[in-house]
Amino acid sequence: MKFKGHHIISMTSFSRDMIDSILETAERMEPIALGKQRSDLLSGKVLAVLFFEPSTRTRMSFETAMYRLGGNVLNLGSIDASSIAKGETLADTIRVVDGYADAIVLRHPKEGAARLASEFSTVPILNAGDGAGHHPTQTLLDLYTIKRESHLEGVKIALAGDLKYGRTVHSLCYALSLYGADITLISPMELRMPEEIIKDLEKRGAKVTETDSIEHAINEVDVLYMTRIQKERFLDPTEYEKVANKLKITPELLANVKTELKILHPLPRVNEIHTGVDEMPHACYFRQAFYGVPVRMALLALVLGAME
Ligand code: NCD
Repeated sequence: MKFKGHHIISMTSFSRDMIDSILETAERMEPIALGKQRSDLLSGKVLAVLFFEPSTRTRMSFETAMYRLGGNVLNLGSIDASSIAKGETLADTIRVVDGYADAIVLRHPKEGAARLASEFSTVPILNAGDGAGHHPTQTLLDLYTIKRESHLEGVKIALAGDLKYGRTVHSLCYALSLYGADITLISPMELRMPEEIIKDLEKRGAKVTETDSIEHAINEVDVLYMTRIQKERFLDPTEYEKVANKLKITPELLANVKTELKILHPLPRVNEIHTGVDEMPHACYFRQAFYGVPVRMALLALVLGAME
């Protein structure tokens, strides 16, 4: 499958074959991601990393993915220390960085920023989150985690938390619809999944159910995907306070669920998963964060044309 030169903007343009091919490549990357094997696959290649919003996992796993494959990373660093502080537009920044790097990872607070960047870039743009829009590379590692820890085909999955502003769940549910998933959406009323996304999912053949109760759903599903309430997207802090503590997972709540239930979270968590859950067999979220490395190695090797 040819990915060379492709922009990675949204999961809506991915076919199941494309996803499967990335996940298979990621599996082959695991020994290198673990530091057990060395590779020079991306030697001489430069990845530019432009983060206009905070990040730990996405930025660092892209960086380590590049280093593990023998490539180099050029990090814009703090926005305040760059020309963006002088008023430079995103389009101009991209046009310039395009000349310095072989691919660009971009995270930006505005929805559509990665798509806009792709119109000004001759090198692949990898969307690392555009506001409340999409986060396709997170979805690929989420799918990889589901495949490794449970199963993808026909998976029964609950997505819980901030389904309105959460870009990880927006991207993930489009991909899940390609695997015949049975999707339960759990959120406070105020943070429901946008109607147009639910309609799209139904058109794509997914079974979608909405609820505001986590207690019932956890006995029915194979995977529970928890998310943080996206505080930074609220215009009014009192609106955030109203929903901040509505959905929480505790060891007590999980006392009687089947041992096969797997709990994922893109992280960072705030208080939606009690730390007591971390030692339970359900918890997959720290392994999930590691899987970001082999998955992003695979993506980089594919879009840079080092593999097919
Ligand atoms: C997510 C994001 O940035 O959308 N984090 C991540 O990339 N792992 C989730 C979040 O911030 O809640």
